[in-house]
Amino acid sequence: MPRPTLSVIGLGYLGATHAICMADLGYDVVGLDIDAARVEALANGTVPFFEPGLDELLNKVLPTGRLTFTTSYDDVAAADVHFLCVGTPQRKGENAADTSYVDAAVASLAERIGKPCVVVGKSTVPVGTAERVAEQFAGRDVELVWNPEFLREGWAIEDTLHPDRLVFGITSPRGEEAMREVFAPIIESGVPVVVTDLATAQLVKVAANAFLATKISFINAMAEVCEVVHADVKKLSEALSYDERIGGRFLHAGLGFGGGCLPKDIRAFMARAGELGVDQALSFLTEVDAINQRRRARMVDLTRGLLDDSLSGRRIGVLGAAFKPHSDDIRDSPALDVASRLHGAGAHVTVYDPAALANARRDYPALDYAESAVEAATGADAVLHLTEWPEFVQMDPAVLGAVVRQRNVVDGRNALDAARWRAAGWHYRALGRP
Ligand code: UDX
Repeated sequence: MPRPTLSVIGLGYLGATHAICMADLGYDVVGLDIDAARVEALANGTVPFFEPGLDELLNKVLPTGRLTFTTSYDDVAAADVHFLCVGTPQRKGENAADTSYVDAAVASLAERIGKPCVVVGKSTVPVGTAERVAEQFAGRDVELVWNPEFLREGWAIEDTLHPDRLVFGITSPRGEEAMREVFAPIIESGVPVVVTDLATAQLVKVAANAFLATKISFINAMAEVCEVVHADVKKLSEALSYDERIGGRFLHAGLGFGGGCLPKDIRAFMARAGELGVDQALSFLTEVDAINQRRRARMVDLTRGLLDDSLSGRRIGVLGAAFKPHSDDIRDSPALDVASRLHGAGAHVTVYDPAALANARRDYPALDYAESAVEAATGADAVLHLTEWPEFVQMDPAVLGAVVRQRNVVDGRNALDAARWRAAGWHYRALGRP
């Protein structure tokens, strides 16, 4: 039997990675985005964001002719399986998710579909959206499946080709059959498959992100307690991690979570729970969000405290702009939030990041930028470590020590070797540690 042909609608982190990986697995894939520049870049072999290994994989599959890109829905109409990968950002001034891109994509697709096909929703959506999408396809021979995606930026290829699990939310056995066929190469490698209904499948994604955010805020709440009793949250976290029921992943205290997913997903989940009349069930997420925001304020306070309670006119070197290492994504970046708060308090802030400088310059034009960590730290009264890129973690503190005005370092990610920095004459401070 010939393999199904695929379309991928929406070529952000999720869609671009999915399209490239499925083509690499041998499928014919057409990727669609309404952003012509994005489509052109991908067609020319350039991934329009930073994701380790993805450029190489794109340039490996492009010459096979299996992967093409378009801005026209007419070009995707013939595919057997359509993956919906468009974004669902936070609505301006509200907690709820904006699902208008999903609705627009579905409307455009529904107009063109002229043959039996499967539509697979991968976008992270408020529960109930899939059911609405199903209504939009009513009267057409469309099998709708919801297949949430758990990929992490920086590990996008790995998470796509070797996911922890595959979740298929289906409405009939035909949906499961289609998914087992299209994901056969991944399932054969032993990845667990959970087959469920549409509502559960939509919930799995937001529940996973809510849990991860809660775990991070839990340890950051412990950091707040540690600070007042002079305890060490890093040791506390290590000790907790040996309990297999707790586990050490996502238990790193520091500046907290940012990015395009965790913050907006927990807010959208709360908003949806409110609409469904179960807001009490998720009211703890308000606290999870608040703990996370307090970390940023605490970072500013700690820096101010190091500088005789005054930030005005002080020079601050900031290491990191991306919301996490191995990414150029600055959406809701804790690092840039702290940098701009310091700037707002009158400090001269110079930021360096190995990958996110162009994005940071565009969105935070008031800050100063440097081309290296040494340049950012030159003349600084304090150096702030806000995104734990390996080049910062491995840095020789003596090298920065030679260029700063004062050897003050605040480790917002609890990732520097405190003893090494102190031995090099630095006044080292971190969140939640003595
Ligand atoms: C997240 C989910 O992990 C992924 O499954 C989902 O599909 C999308 O959202 P991502 O946004 O790429 O992925 O980032 P992630 O690696 O989860 O990190 C989120 C944030 O939490 C980062 O800002 C990171 O610095 C922070 N974090 C993570 C901590 O502060 N402490 C930790 O222990 C772990």
